[in-house]
Amino acid sequence: MRYLEQAMTIDDPHGGERARPTARELERYEALFAARTKGMRSSAMRDMMSLTERPEVISLAGGLPDTSTFAPELYAKLMSKVAAESTARALQYGPTEGMSCTVECVVEVMAAEGTHVDPDEVLVTTGGQQVIDLMCKAFIDPGDTIVAEAPTYPGAVPTFDAYEANVVQIEMDSDGMPIDELEQTLDRLESEGRSPKFIYTIPNFQNPGGVTMSLPRRKRLVHVAREREMLVLEDNPYGLLRYEGEALPTLHSLDAQTAKRGGASDFVIYLGTFSKILSPGIRLGWAVAPRPVMEKLNLCKQGADLCSSPVTQLFVDAYFKERAPDGTPAWRAHLDSLKELYRVRRDAMLRALEQHFGSSARWTEPQGGLFIWATLPEYIDTTDLLARALESEGVAFVPGRAAYLDGRGASSMRLNFAGMDERDISEGIRRIGKVVREQVGLFGTLTGAEPAPAQPKDKSKAQPDPDLAEVLELPKRKHPDVKRRTS
Ligand SMILES: Cc1ncc(COP(=O)(O)O)c(C=O)c1O
Repeated sequence: MRYLEQAMTIDDPHGGERARPTARELERYEALFAARTKGMRSSAMRDMMSLTERPEVISLAGGLPDTSTFAPELYAKLMSKVAAESTARALQYGPTEGMSCTVECVVEVMAAEGTHVDPDEVLVTTGGQQVIDLMCKAFIDPGDTIVAEAPTYPGAVPTFDAYEANVVQIEMDSDGMPIDELEQTLDRLESEGRSPKFIYTIPNFQNPGGVTMSLPRRKRLVHVAREREMLVLEDNPYGLLRYEGEALPTLHSLDAQTAKRGGASDFVIYLGTFSKILSPGIRLGWAVAPRPVMEKLNLCKQGADLCSSPVTQLFVDAYFKERAPDGTPAWRAHLDSLKELYRVRRDAMLRALEQHFGSSARWTEPQGGLFIWATLPEYIDTTDLLARALESEGVAFVPGRAAYLDGRGASSMRLNFAGMDERDISEGIRRIGKVVREQVGLFGTLTGAEPAPAQPKDKSKAQPDPDLAEVLELPKRKHPDVKRRTS
């Protein structure tokens, strides 16, 4: 654990590591900090970013797409175009709601998701992350309730903490958030006089869970939101990164169908981003929200950064005008190549998990996105495991606790398969598997329980849990004190 604390440094945008302040230095400012800063903790993901810079570490921790796939010549051409044609606009402040040319690109991406939106209901933001922050700024007073999935996006955890939200997390299964449990939770909260300000969900290839909310659940969630007049924040960075299976409608489009207001939704606020389909470095995302909500989000954004970068907004505009040789929009062709690349990497990670984790773990098999969620025997704490994995094997992942606000998730881990090539994926999983086997063996020695075999799993003998169709099964262990998690 001490090693881990030393290893985690505040992220430096230039890629270096910054020393943490000493206790004595902190003491000087302690009494001045606002009360809300007490609950703040650094996102495990951000901490990991500095580790990815170390050449000897294989990091399966970040949420990184592979930006080396973007052609340098195209990047140079587009930036030159922005410079030649729009220097003054690029270097000037822009409108808070976003430049109209960028809003048009947003409308095009949303249309590709089968979701038609009114450009007046779009707010261009500094990454999708800013939407989460603005939603909290606009809706959350200290102690207000947010309902989220369990596990949830690790990057949302520090934001919810910063606004002192009370987050109630609902454990997912292979179809995402179970809506009957959501309803029971809402009933319970209502009986306690608590009405959640919004329900936060990542319906497609959830980060970190890798699971997708089924169509019946989507429909029911929208129905519940309308019936109870409750807001839903639909966070959808990965919807277009589907490697197999049929695309499902967004919650926004399902609500809009019922609302019958020309594509406008009443209760779903949509979060989108260019980060995973183009680049996180351009820091551009968006919100789509009913006008009264939009106005508040706009005001909150004015206080945060006035506007998102016109330089990168114009870059996106130039990119969306680019055509591939066959006439298709270049961004669609790039997206297709990303999907092919990530599908191959996902398969490489699934194969490596079979080979190196074997029956000592179960994991999700996502149909898209960037992440696999693996769960180890309950007696393994992945925060401790990470310290060991880093120290002795030079490999990193996100420990499961980062995706919970209540200390759960200790035996799980998030693995990114998009940012590394197949060789590093395989080697990274081999190294983690080695540390896991050591822990399983140690547990067996200490307790007399039969350690789970670490050989490749015989798939034909696997007993799929009916509730967890996409999750592989852990073998039953002999030790009576160790309960198996069911979801
Ligand atoms: C679920 C989810 N929401 C929001 C974000 C924030 O993305 P960005 O700010 O780069 O648009 C991410 C990034 O990984 C994410 O996975």
